[in-house]
Amino acid sequence: MTTRRFDFPPDFVFGSATAAYQVEGAAHADGRGDSIWDALSRRKGAIADASSGEDACRHYEYWRQDLDLIKELGHQAYRFSVAWPRIQPSGTGSFNAKGFDFYGRLIDGMLERGIKPNCTLYHWDLPTALEEQGGWLNRDTAFRYRDYAHEVAKRFGDRVDFWATFNEPGIFTLLGYKLGIHAPGRKEGDKAYRQIIHHVLLAHGLGMQALRANMRRPGAKAGIVLLAAAPWPMDPSPATLAAAERCWQMGNDWWMLPMTQGRYPEGPWKRLGQSVPEVQPGDLEIIHQAMDYIGVNYYSPDRLAADPADPEGWKGVPAAPQAPRPDMPGWEVFAPGIRSVLIQFHRRYGLPIYVTENGMGLKEEPLGEDGRVHDARRTDFLKRHLAEIRRAMDQGADVRGYFHWSLMDNFEWAFGFGLHFGLVHTDYKSYQRTPKDSALWYRAFIKTGGFEADFEDMPSHFDGKFII
Ligand code: FCB
Repeated sequence: MTTRRFDFPPDFVFGSATAAYQVEGAAHADGRGDSIWDALSRRKGAIADASSGEDACRHYEYWRQDLDLIKELGHQAYRFSVAWPRIQPSGTGSFNAKGFDFYGRLIDGMLERGIKPNCTLYHWDLPTALEEQGGWLNRDTAFRYRDYAHEVAKRFGDRVDFWATFNEPGIFTLLGYKLGIHAPGRKEGDKAYRQIIHHVLLAHGLGMQALRANMRRPGAKAGIVLLAAAPWPMDPSPATLAAAERCWQMGNDWWMLPMTQGRYPEGPWKRLGQSVPEVQPGDLEIIHQAMDYIGVNYYSPDRLAADPADPEGWKGVPAAPQAPRPDMPGWEVFAPGIRSVLIQFHRRYGLPIYVTENGMGLKEEPLGEDGRVHDARRTDFLKRHLAEIRRAMDQGADVRGYFHWSLMDNFEWAFGFGLHFGLVHTDYKSYQRTPKDSALWYRAFIKTGGFEADFEDMPSHFDGKFII
């Protein structure tokens, strides 16, 4: 093994991310309407520890201290989301001035501290009133989203550097509307599920139009954030490589091709048969809007092999028993996966890329007697992923920034407060924030923009598309 330096260009942006429902709390304060996550949290058994985002990290109250902390930790940008029900409590009709005031203060507070605002318009908290009218299965929701996006963009278009229309649309549609484990907890059939995705894509196109019409900050960028499907073929047989390609098409092309080329991918469209969505004339033109960047989230690879018995021709393969794992069930720590994903996003779609989420969920992370959290595993995770991002850039990928998930421990959806992703420890009794060792390492790293390590380079994987 040889030691090398992993240095990043001076204009590379480093930051961290959170989402409204996971950190804000004050779920029913100052005129905020009910969201589908409030509703799901009230359902018995839906959240592992029976908790909710009612208080979360009380960021709605402590936002000023949190911004001071972000600055102190050297983050150059902060990715946050706007809660639609705070801005427009019933998802339609009148807007809530107090909601705009909160995000106005937050954005101004970032700018005063030299932190670039990175705003996601939808990180999963649909107003309950819209869910009662069918949620994303109702085509009208896309047009309600358009109105909401337009209003937020109009208000803050002069002050926000990065915009995203949606966070991980593939995840909230799958977990929320097909598997029923995220809000709104529905289990729709294949056809309805594809229709839901189509409506979200339509909303993305309408949202991009709203952003374009209102973005007034020089250099501001608009795009979307996807959880990358990260197929990792487990053997070099043509059948497994073809299976990996099918996984990519269904997981990534299904979103990327409508948005970047105005068409659904042919292969998956055929394979879905009767389950394809109804597409109205003009929809694909709306969905196809020029994006300035693509946000890629990466946590864990999708190891797979050919399986002729499966309709898509593949099966997931578990990681080796000795593989390092975070405490998120089914996830694995595998940094080369991020390199593969970034190179392929670059080659296939050509857009500038920001890594908008990447991080490690751990169960037990107590504050030590010395008042610190010694999360060496998270620091190691961070370094390994940064190293592989640098390698992806060496191989041509146009990666411009990195946002760690998350700034602080928060409400991890159906897992409640039991899984900790923060660089900063949150005490849910005192609401005290304590930077963990990983946050201190990240701060020192951001200052110099580089580090030295002897991480082994994965030998080239397979020939064809999945070589890294
Ligand atoms: C992503 C979500 C984010 C957080 C992380 C762990 O899928 O976007 O809100 O829950 O996973």
